[in-house]
Amino acid sequence: PVPAPQELLEIAVEVARAAAATAARMRAEGVSPVATKSTVTDVVTAADRAVEQQVVADLRRRRPGDAVLGEEYGEGGAPAGTGGVRWIIDPIDGTVNYLYGIPCYAVSLAAEVDGVVVAGVVRNAATGDEWTAVRGGGAYRDGRRLVGSTETDLAQSLIATGFGYAPARRQHQAAVLARLIPHVRDIRRFGAASIDLCRAAEGEVDAYYEKGLAAWDLAAGGLVATEAGLRVDGLAGRPAGPDMVVAAPPALFGPLHDRLAELDASGGP
Ligand code: IPD
Repeated sequence: PVPAPQELLEIAVEVARAAAATAARMRAEGVSPVATKSTVTDVVTAADRAVEQQVVADLRRRRPGDAVLGEEYGEGGAPAGTGGVRWIIDPIDGTVNYLYGIPCYAVSLAAEVDGVVVAGVVRNAATGDEWTAVRGGGAYRDGRRLVGSTETDLAQSLIATGFGYAPARRQHQAAVLARLIPHVRDIRRFGAASIDLCRAAEGEVDAYYEKGLAAWDLAAGGLVATEAGLRVDGLAGRPAGPDMVVAAPPALFGPLHDRLAELDASGGP
């Protein structure tokens, strides 16, 4: 039988804490890029790989029949959709921050049951900040329930976003941003999508949007934001996905959505 979401969260938290400890230790020992992925700016470090291997091994020990999807090694384990659980892993979200020692990088781990994310944890490996959520059970940081921002005016909203790695996409994202800035309080680019989503859940920023997220960037943080009461969707009635993720409190979602749609933020390469 599939365990309850709370039970999956407990496993996720244990595994993510151990993974974050490994990431922090490897960072202290010194870090350098070992390869690039999609483009020259899309780096991977030995820690990205080692941490993902550790997470997969820990999950296999506890839940041998489950499927996994990770940023560095892709799919493995039992086939998804056979009624089981699939774990979605970003071993180090915010790899560029990790490389430079900027304390904003996270282990992001979510459990999906039949294609629906039911539990998730995002742990900032540099600071120990930890955000958790189970579907229908609210979002928490260190025991405190999260409710998001109460801001309703886009002009007074602090908006987080991020950029992909492909040059043409970045250029499009920058063009959208240049036209959005006059309409918002300001922009933040922290460099880790999972943490951006959690900051929005916490109301540390009013909202977040980004085009081009992968499943592992979105899974855990997206659930945290949803469970904090935010609306997390794409543009024009589409669900949140690689085209666009907009995460905002309900009253702010419409104004931000409409502005991004007008700027064709999900268009371009
Ligand atoms: C990236 C970060 C970044 C976001 C990118 C992601 P990575 O993940 O979350 O903030 O803007 O879209 O790809 O490569 O550091 O795991």
